[in-house]
This record gives sequence, C-alpha cells and structure tokens, in this order.
Amino acid sequence: MNKATRQAVIAGNWKMNKTPAQATALINEMKPLVAEADCKVVLCVPFIDIPAAIEAAKGSNIEIGAENVHFKANGAYTGEISAEMLVEAGVKYVVIGHSERRQYFGETDQTVNLRTLAAVNAGLTAIVCVGETLEQRELGYTETLLKFQTKMALTNISAEQLKNIIVAYEPVWAIGTGVTATAEQADEGNGFVREAIAEVYGKEVAETVTIQYGGSMNAKNADELVAKVNVDGGLIGGASLKAEDFAVIVKAASK
Ligand code: PGA
Repeated sequence: MNKATRQAVIAGNWKMNKTPAQATALINEMKPLVAEADCKVVLCVPFIDIPAAIEAAKGSNIEIGAENVHFKANGAYTGEISAEMLVEAGVKYVVIGHSERRQYFGETDQTVNLRTLAAVNAGLTAIVCVGETLEQRELGYTETLLKFQTKMALTNISAEQLKNIIVAYEPVWAIGTGVTATAEQADEGNGFVREAIAEVYGKEVAETVTIQYGGSMNAKNADELVAKVNVDGGLIGGASLKAEDFAVIVKAASK
C-alpha cells in the first residue's frame, strides 16, 4: 500500500466554535459542496453540537467526530465524556492529544495513550495529534520528538488496531498562526511519524496508516500539501469553519 491506495481523510476541527444551530447551518451549507469527494470527510465538533451535527449530516458523506474522549469507561469524572457515550451518539472519530489540550489542559503523552486505547477499544477511529514547538524545532529535536510522541501515543495499540488510528502531524508553531509548514516540512514531519510506526510495527504496516498534516492548511495551500507522498489529507481548524474553503480542501485531497 502507498499513497495511491491509502485513504486520504480531510477532518475539520471546529475547536470551541459554533452552537448546535450554527452547526446545523454550516453542515447544510457544506453538504452539497463536498458531495463528490473522493476522500473521507469528517467534522470534529464540540460535544454539545454532536446530535445536531449527526442529524444534519444524515444521508451525506460527512462523518462526525468529537474533539476529545476520557479514558475511563464511567465514574466520578465531572465534566468528562466516555467513548461509549460517543459511540451511542453516532460518533465515528475523535481527536486526541491536540496541542491545545496538551498546552492548556495538562494533556500528557500518557493520557494521550490512555485516551487512544479507550477510543479504539470502543470502535472509534482516533485522530492522534503530534507536533513540535518552534523552540523544539530550532533546537533540532523535531525528529526525536515526533517519533517519541508517536510511539508513546501508540503504546499497547496492536497492529490490527492501527486500522482505527490516524496520526495528524501538527507543528505547534503552525496552528492558528497563519504560518503553514512548507510542503517539504509537512512531508518530512509526516515521514518521521511513518518511520516511528515502521520502527514498531514494520514498514509494511506503516505504509497503510493515514497520516494527516495540520496547521494553517487552507484553500490556497492544500493542493501543494496533500500532493506530498507522506501527506494523506489534513486536520483543518480555521478553514473548516468556512464551507467554501473547506470544500476546496476536500477537492484538493480528492485528486
Ligand atoms: P488551524 O488548526 O488550521 O486553524 O491552524 C489546525 C488544528 O488545530 O487542528
């Protein structure tokens, strides 16, 4: 398997944006624009938007994801949401270990791993995020860091379970900043992630894993980014809040 046969996935990450009514409106606007997609189309939305998003996406090629999941099955964890709750709601994907969660909410490589295990054990596809800060890049740690984060996130995940894992390489310095990694930097970062997977699971398995790029991917730069051999689609923040821009990105990944 190689890029030609790997499934490209374009996933929106709405972050803390859109009310349920706004989610319905945006998905209704997007549906006809992405109907011809030749890649998977996913929208990861705030928990409270999930029922409205699933209802609005019914009968379309848009699948709905969440932006986080707790690692315990149930219990005294005020404010948290379990994998079982997401599955019953009709969610198929979940973003795990986004750098904003690592930065602002104390997410560690260990909790990223526990959440990833909980997600795939429940039958969800985990979109696991890794990425270096600008300081780490400038110190020359990008490869070491990306490989470490990838291996930590996938601890105790079997080769079979990797089918339900997407890794998103998101350089922290490129998220929400308007500074996109060059296509070469994106390809290189995704390549490090693929090498890390190969070091644990073997090259053949690593070739089957969808690895997205994320960080200021937009309607203008998507073409060049998704054309790279190691870039199997993208995790899109800001541009996933605009139906037309998101549709252009989906089109780029459908070529
Ligand atoms: P951005 O966000 O596209 O707004 O940079 C990407 C992400 O955080 O997943």
